[in-house]
Amino acid sequence: MPENAALALALAEKLNIEIGSIELRDFPDGECYVRVLSEVAGKKVLLVCSLDHPNIKILPLFFLAQTLHELGANQICLISPYLAYLRQDKRFKTGEAITSGIFAKFVSGWVDSLVTFDPHLHRIHNLAEIYPSKNIITLHAGQKIAAWIKDEVTSPLLIGPDEESAQWVSKIAVGLGAPYVVVKKTRYGDREVSISLPELNDLSKTPVLIDDIISTGTSMLTLIQQLLLKGFKKPVCIAIHALFNKEIYTELLETGAVKIVTCNTIPHFSNVIDVTDILVDELKNNFLK
Ligand code: R5P
Repeated sequence: MPENAALALALAEKLNIEIGSIELRDFPDGECYVRVLSEVAGKKVLLVCSLDHPNIKILPLFFLAQTLHELGANQICLISPYLAYLRQDKRFKTGEAITSGIFAKFVSGWVDSLVTFDPHLHRIHNLAEIYPSKNIITLHAGQKIAAWIKDEVTSPLLIGPDEESAQWVSKIAVGLGAPYVVVKKTRYGDREVSISLPELNDLSKTPVLIDDIISTGTSMLTLIQQLLLKGFKKPVCIAIHALFNKEIYTELLETGAVKIVTCNTIPHFSNVIDVTDILVDELKNNFLK
């Protein structure tokens, strides 16, 4: 899909496979027009579409996948480095839609395989619990993040801004041989959280805040403020998936972040850590075998 052209081109080059061509545009009334320009009959098709801002992307993607099937594509593998609709995995209030399950069933209806990075899982432990597709592959950016920290940060102390982040932070810390802590976060609303820091005494370390997502930035902003109040150095902020905008980026820097870096699972100005090779290895050993 258009926003993921750079990743699609990199994959095509590294895997030595054909790059497909489509025409995608909107009619004046907002409906979308989709046309497949490449010959796809009998071929395996890799559809590359990161699902940030999913509502505007999903319908064109669905039309495209259905058309590929109709034109005789053999198998369709959806590569969504960021997979949407995972946070609402429970009916917290009466009448709420459990969008994670509904979305998973919908997507599974038209793809044969799905590849993603570090999905935002809370109460669900494995994507296969909600995605009925046969082949669901979850990749992890941790080793690339650890390598980046090793090269760029002296004496890091890794900090996870909430209990869910423990799954990423602990593995990266082990890979690096660095200390880590996970703080307790309570969320009161989209833009309101409170964070309680454990006893931290070694102020010589550089705090490296690691989360799967920066969205409103509230979690990172609150944590940065608390660390600076305790006398810590300005922290480095790392997220796998960059869902934030320029204003939040600026606010994070103004609040005291020394650097904000993300992985290229969503094309974004903060992308520094390249995870393409992880995807290449997986595709070589699985879908393209
Ligand atoms: C918690 O639910 C997540 O792991 C992230 O901490 C959260 O999504 C980040 O969101 P925000 O940037 O809006 O605080």
